[in-house]
Amino acid sequence: MAGVIEDPVAEQHEVHDLNPTLGVLHLIALGIGAIIGAGIFVITGHAAATYAGPAVVFSFAIAGLGCLFAGLCYAEFAAMIPVAGSAYTYTLATMGRFMAWFIGWNLVLEYLAAASTVAAGWSGYFERFMAYLGHPIPVALASAPLCVPTDVHCPTYNAGYSALEALSHIGMTGTYFNLPAVGLIIFISLVLIVGVHLSANFNILMVSIKLAIVLLVIAAGLPHVVAANHTPFVVPNTGEWGQFGWSGVLRATGVIFFAYIGFDAVSVAAQEAKNPKRDVPIGILGSLLICTVLYMLMSYVLTGLASYKTLNVTYPVSEAVAAIPATAWLAQIVNVGAIVGLASVVLVLLLGQSRIFYAMSKDGMIPPLFGQVHTRFRTPWKSTIITGIFAAVLAGCLPLDILGELVSIGTLLAFVIVCLGVMVLRFTKPRALRPFRTPYVWIVAPLGMIMCGAMMAWLPLDTWLRLIGWTIIGLLIFAFYGRRHAKAARWTIKETPAE
Ligand code: ALA
Repeated sequence: MAGVIEDPVAEQHEVHDLNPTLGVLHLIALGIGAIIGAGIFVITGHAAATYAGPAVVFSFAIAGLGCLFAGLCYAEFAAMIPVAGSAYTYTLATMGRFMAWFIGWNLVLEYLAAASTVAAGWSGYFERFMAYLGHPIPVALASAPLCVPTDVHCPTYNAGYSALEALSHIGMTGTYFNLPAVGLIIFISLVLIVGVHLSANFNILMVSIKLAIVLLVIAAGLPHVVAANHTPFVVPNTGEWGQFGWSGVLRATGVIFFAYIGFDAVSVAAQEAKNPKRDVPIGILGSLLICTVLYMLMSYVLTGLASYKTLNVTYPVSEAVAAIPATAWLAQIVNVGAIVGLASVVLVLLLGQSRIFYAMSKDGMIPPLFGQVHTRFRTPWKSTIITGIFAAVLAGCLPLDILGELVSIGTLLAFVIVCLGVMVLRFTKPRALRPFRTPYVWIVAPLGMIMCGAMMAWLPLDTWLRLIGWTIIGLLIFAFYGRRHAKAARWTIKETPAE
């Protein structure tokens, strides 16, 4: 191993886990478990209704390919530096503090805001199910009070607004906050504080439930796709770049990229793989390939059962199956499956976020309280509480489309840097021990950078402005805190002796 771990959490979550026990199937299950969530269950509806129509199917193919290149680069780092903190830790060990801070700050977007996004998506299905049981959640407590003018349901809706106008015309929906989403975040944060052991069996159960629902919708829906809903398949462009037509397909790519987030879980588990050289790429390729095929089929079925125009709701899968009598029986099964499946994704994301804060605090990038471990539960409880508070506020107040696009752009930026980092390290540490080497790195890494960069570029300008705002806040924290307190990296990369 390449370093010394002295922290209790690290011992509990890293050293303890380092037995190489995972085979190909475990790794694929791990990937699918982390990947399938609000992306396919919620964001697909928004992307189809707002940007791409039924052609969102193509967006899934393009995004899947970009993830593949980035995932192969991720795996090289993950196998070399097997510690908590994901891409943040890899960057600290390779490109220094500033870049590490930058990437860590974007990972906060990936995990924390993604947890809020998935919780907001979860609440749509939960509300739908409660209404079915005859206990509807009061409207004032069922959704976020803020909305964006690109959403047709927003009082300030105006598709023609420029990015700056879109930012300054945030609307008020008249509700107080999204109570179910906040409740879920609080509940899961408490579970994480008390200490959760994410057993392989639990993961397999979750994967099975999610897969079963997705397969059921595809199998039951495919024979009943209504041809009229798919005509035209590529909806004519409105005249604005990104609003339907092929430019809409590209823009939707960055939006539904959210659905693929989580595949890095496979690379992060590289150190636990029995045969990382062979199994990790198969795990990444396998889980991405399976999810890409499922996502393409699922989005084909959803836009075929109901018109894409009706899918901009927080429960598009149950909306789509309920649209025709032949599949309406599936609606409540979908609701229950989504409630269980999406809750498990929130748990994984909040766990990941508290560990990233933990790693950053150990390096002095953020205050030490984020690294404090509870004496009894042995979990980073303060970090978990702070993560939970922020995630609850975001999930309670912001609409899912703002959150989802922000997560996508932040994560894409992190992936671009990871692809770059792999190439940098081949130069600066050519003799580093690499249990897994990215195949054809000089082709795969630049392609990963280009594709992830392009997906960022295709996102709406207001999302870029939010990313810039987020980055400025991050830079200020780094300038006033991180730069002064950061310690030397806890990790050194092990190298083979010179010949
Ligand atoms: N890919 C995960 C989801 O779609 C984050 O929920």
